[in-house]
Amino acid sequence: MQPSALTTLGYMVTAIAFMFGIQLLRSPATARQGNRIAAVGMLLVLGITAALVHNTGNWPLIIPPIVIGTVIGAVSSRLVRMTAMPQMVALFNGMGGGSAALIAAQDFRTAVANGTAHPDITWAIMVSCIIGSLSFAGSLVAFAKLQELMPGRPLKYRLQSAVNGLLLIVILALSVYLIVGDQNLTLFAVFIVLSLLLGVLFVVPIGGADMPVIISLLNSFTGLAAASTGFVLSNDVLIVSGALVGASGTILTLAMSKAMNRSLFNVLFSGFGSTVESAGSAAGGEGGTIHPTTVEDLAPLLAFAQLVIFVPGYGMAVARAQHEVKELADELEKRGVTVEYAIHPVAGRMPGHMNVLLAEANVPYTQLKEMDAVNGDFPRTDVAVVIGANDVVNPAARTQTNSPIYGMPILNVDQAKTVVVLKRSMAPGFAGVDNPLFYKPNTLMLFGDARTSVAALIAEVKKQ
Ligand code: TAP
Repeated sequence: MQPSALTTLGYMVTAIAFMFGIQLLRSPATARQGNRIAAVGMLLVLGITAALVHNTGNWPLIIPPIVIGTVIGAVSSRLVRMTAMPQMVALFNGMGGGSAALIAAQDFRTAVANGTAHPDITWAIMVSCIIGSLSFAGSLVAFAKLQELMPGRPLKYRLQSAVNGLLLIVILALSVYLIVGDQNLTLFAVFIVLSLLLGVLFVVPIGGADMPVIISLLNSFTGLAAASTGFVLSNDVLIVSGALVGASGTILTLAMSKAMNRSLFNVLFSGFGSTVESAGSAAGGEGGTIHPTTVEDLAPLLAFAQLVIFVPGYGMAVARAQHEVKELADELEKRGVTVEYAIHPVAGRMPGHMNVLLAEANVPYTQLKEMDAVNGDFPRTDVAVVIGANDVVNPAARTQTNSPIYGMPILNVDQAKTVVVLKRSMAPGFAGVDNPLFYKPNTLMLFGDARTSVAALIAEVKKQ
């Protein structure tokens, strides 16, 4: 077999490994295996690339970045807290976009120097540079917002969309000129700087809380930039893997928007989340009587229930209460209680947030129930325990047509015989809206940090 045939075969195996890996990510039960298979594919393609560059004599330049990148990636993924995962993904995604743009830019310089910068290939170079630069700069802004290095609120000014639109037109005009006209490297540098600027201006007006959706969108941009770089380098596996990232990122972006009952246009241009910072002071908003409770009163209610459903949300992630929740579930099961976990598709701040946390606490996948499957169980549920969830259990989404979350599918916890809400105050969640659930006669409020509250509940349940 010729080496080129071997290389092609290796690329095909890699592409299949990536597709199979993504397919397995669809279920929490198979997600880890999917990750491993995709990682093996990545290792294979790195091996092939290493074999291809074997004789170029560039090893002193190639090995150090690989070692430094591997160490940074491995250490940071071990150290990062689950709540900080979105900004880490933003950073990694930005690096992907930046790499695609850099490789394409270097190819442009080489082609210009060799006199081979033909439109057949320069179109792909320009696409890589625009999308890769935009994704790089936009991801860094998303990282800075989530890491609170800059204000998370939407930064808006008059005619912002018009300015962004004009900038995009200038960038496109420059790229056409660079493809068919004078291939001036100074102009090319201006074109790159403007593309980076567009990335910054694109993300700055979007609220920090919407960043997971934006990161997913930028991720799909990075995929397209990589695919385009694949055309520049005539590298099939880069085209296929870039297209996979582009398609899956787009699907994820749309799925997240749909689960929030918002259009992508609304996410990009509404400045949603601008009320989040000030919302914490909203003590009671809509008003009504709340029913505070204590762990002493709750423990017998839980211990003698038949069916208890835990409903985790962002607050469980903040409190890092998942291990205590699992321990409480174990105590209840020892007493013959059936326990389930209700998972809303956008609970928390990133896709699969709750699944990952609960898997970390060794909650069996069979107990995790998706929204559509679990909603039918609430009317026969003795106690629904809401742990730091708010918007995803807000019945206003069903009933209040003027609510910003009206139409968002929710977990119908209010239909349970008793609802217990664990949170620290009456502050609203991400959407910044009041929650009528808290004032219902069958709702009890247990105020305090979720982890502390659940730990206290465990101690009380043990006494029953
Ligand atoms: P939220 O509606 O954001 O509510 C979280 C609640 O947790 C808050 O009301 C907060 O109340 C409570 N909390 C915070 N820290 C806590 C702690 N240490 N102990 C106990 N409670 C604590 O969360 P959710 O119900 O999970 O909904 C997610 C929201 O994020 C949705 O609106 C969704 O559209 C949005 N979103 C999700 C995603 C993805 S992909 N998941 C992406 C973008 C946006 P206190 O401050 O009173 O404690």
